[in-house]
Amino acid sequence: MREAYTFTQKSQINVIFNQKKEKNAPEAFPIEEKVNHAPLERLESKLDRLIGLDDVKRMVRELYAWLYIYRRREAAHLKVQKQSLHMLFKGNPGTGKTTVARLLGEMFREMDILSKGHLVEAERADLVGEYIGQTAQKTRDLIKKSLGGVLFIDEAYSLARGGDKDFGKEAIDTLVKQMEDHKDEFILILAGYSEEMNEFLRLNPGLPSRFPMMLTFPDFSGSELLAIALQMMEEQEYCLTAEARKKLARHLNHKTAFREEHFSNGRYVRNLVEKMIRQQAVRLVREGSYDRDSLMTLRACDLIFDEAVRNAQADEA
Ligand SMILES: Nc1ncnc2c1ncn2[C@@H]1O[C@H](COP(=O)(O)OP(=O)(O)OP(=O)(O)O)[C@@H](O)[C@H]1O
Ligand SMILES: [Mg+2]
Repeated sequence: MREAYTFTQKSQINVIFNQKKEKNAPEAFPIEEKVNHAPLERLESKLDRLIGLDDVKRMVRELYAWLYIYRRREAAHLKVQKQSLHMLFKGNPGTGKTTVARLLGEMFREMDILSKGHLVEAERADLVGEYIGQTAQKTRDLIKKSLGGVLFIDEAYSLARGGDKDFGKEAIDTLVKQMEDHKDEFILILAGYSEEMNEFLRLNPGLPSRFPMMLTFPDFSGSELLAIALQMMEEQEYCLTAEARKKLARHLNHKTAFREEHFSNGRYVRNLVEKMIRQQAVRLVREGSYDRDSLMTLRACDLIFDEAVRNAQADEA
């Protein structure tokens, strides 16, 4: 899919993103028109808050540039090539798929590609009914709710789980039909684990061409997970002692080195941070310390792991 945008890459970098302009280079847009890139600035500030995900960020920036130039070419009565914006997201849980889908919805709304830009999250049970006729209706209702926004179907491969006799197939057929009937009115994102999604596409040969854009969300490294944790804490006005930071870093490195299948990445970190905050609250009440510093500081003793993990780490040490 990258190819679809490579032709924009040069102009993207020169025209929109290049801050350091060469001497005597022509102005890409008149100065006052740069104000129109407010959506891009907002997009950039949101992308900046995402740790890692370099390829995803590049794709999102390319998409912005491509859509922007598409509009400009249209306005200049130049030929434009229509491009479907439905997408496939591949990746493990907690790798940022929902976060990026939401960000794209907002970007599309700001660019007037979508009227609302809201995100409707769904899974198999929201589309597939239990008796004949129910599935098509459920799927159509869901699409109706998504019009003007993004319909995000998680674990989409589960729609093909039961083979030809399963109602999941009816949901896929209805989705495909609705994509034609409501062209340009909503954007469909199918998400799921990489291998299962590859198999899903193989079983449904009509689908790949309808989803020209594919984004892969890799698992985070230990240091990326730590950066995510620190950012979440900072957003909530908490900070870590040096000892706590070391303990957390060691734990996250351990988690990534001995990664369980479908380890939940960012979601795991969010839960861990929330647990730490609760633990700190219990400690503060016990200690009776309510000064500003104490209220902000998370200590190593606030970081408590599951028994199994603790034992494994003790064994290794
Ligand atoms: N790149 C990132 N930078 C910072 N935080 C992130 C990043 N990716 C994910 N997170 C955080 O991790 C948590 C899970 O992210 P999100 O819900 O987007 O993942 P997901 O891929 O949709 O997961 P699932 O498959 O479980 O639905 C969220 O709290 C999100 O804020
Ligand atoms: Mg999600």
